[in-house]
Amino acid sequence: MLLEGKKLLITGVLTPQSIAFSAAQVAQEQGAEIVLTNFGRTVSLTEKTAKRLPDPPDVLEMDVNEPEQIDAVREELGRRWGRLDGFLHAIAFAPQDALGGNFLYTPWESVATAFRTSAFSLSSLAAGMLPLMESHGGGIVSLDFDARVAWPIYDWMGVAKAGLESVTRYLARDLGPKGIRVNTVSAGPMKTMAGKGIPGFDQIAGSWADRAPLGWDTSDGRPVAGAIAFLLSDLAAGITGELLHVDGGFHAMGTDPVPPGTGD
Ligand SMILES: NC(=O)c1ccc[n+]([C@@H]2O[C@H](COP(=O)([O-])OP(=O)(O)OC[C@H]3O[C@@H](n4cnc5c(N)ncnc54)[C@H](O)[C@@H]3O)[C@@H](O)[C@H]2O)c1
Repeated sequence: MLLEGKKLLITGVLTPQSIAFSAAQVAQEQGAEIVLTNFGRTVSLTEKTAKRLPDPPDVLEMDVNEPEQIDAVREELGRRWGRLDGFLHAIAFAPQDALGGNFLYTPWESVATAFRTSAFSLSSLAAGMLPLMESHGGGIVSLDFDARVAWPIYDWMGVAKAGLESVTRYLARDLGPKGIRVNTVSAGPMKTMAGKGIPGFDQIAGSWADRAPLGWDTSDGRPVAGAIAFLLSDLAAGITGELLHVDGGFHAMGTDPVPPGTGD
């Protein structure tokens, strides 16, 4: 099994539709021992969702914007496992006025919240977990929505994701010498709480399958979860600072396919 014996922290499981839920499921199927985290009032929903995993894991509270909560999780994992082999960062949030077409007039406070929670937090979490990982190395994976281009609606979350991509490369630079690999998976659109919270999400998601040569199912997290499991495994030993698209091939196409006969 790909993750036999690995001790992993999985953030961001909220509902069974969460990308992190599929990641947790595949990680367990592949032999990993996992702990979940979520923040504040979401913890009880995460606990309920965790019961649907093959081997219901414990859920700890961790608001990624609260350094002392990150420290508390590190201490708990240290007591449990004495080490950590990797973690999934599956966390994003932007206030409503940072999304949906108000780009020019979004106040800095909302931009700052989006950036802090969705990009800076990858660095906070890496720094927090480092003492459990630096002696033996490991893998860190986050979840991106391709920020090399501008999207309708996505606005400052898109800018935060560009930051996340860059944070991935800088962490890869600084943690590589300790044997810690840092990669991000650019997923196609998924019908999750975060996805549905983006006004106009259906417009982006609806036509995705038309352009993606492999097609795309917005309710199947397993293709993304498979890539996460691979990147957290020793098979990815030579990969760091990478942005891996798991989007049905959408990113590689210049436009939608033309209907047959159009070029005659
Ligand atoms: N849904 C999509 O279309 C899509 C596509 C590409 C990438 N992503 C990314 O995947 C990741 C997971 O999102 P999802 O779509 O599975 O939705 P989701 O709503 O299931 O997960 C988002 C998680 O972030 C957590 N979170 C928010 N603020 C937090 C904080 N301060 N501290 C700790 N946790 C916090 C939420 O509680 C939730 O569990 C996000 O980074 C998202 O941007 C989503």
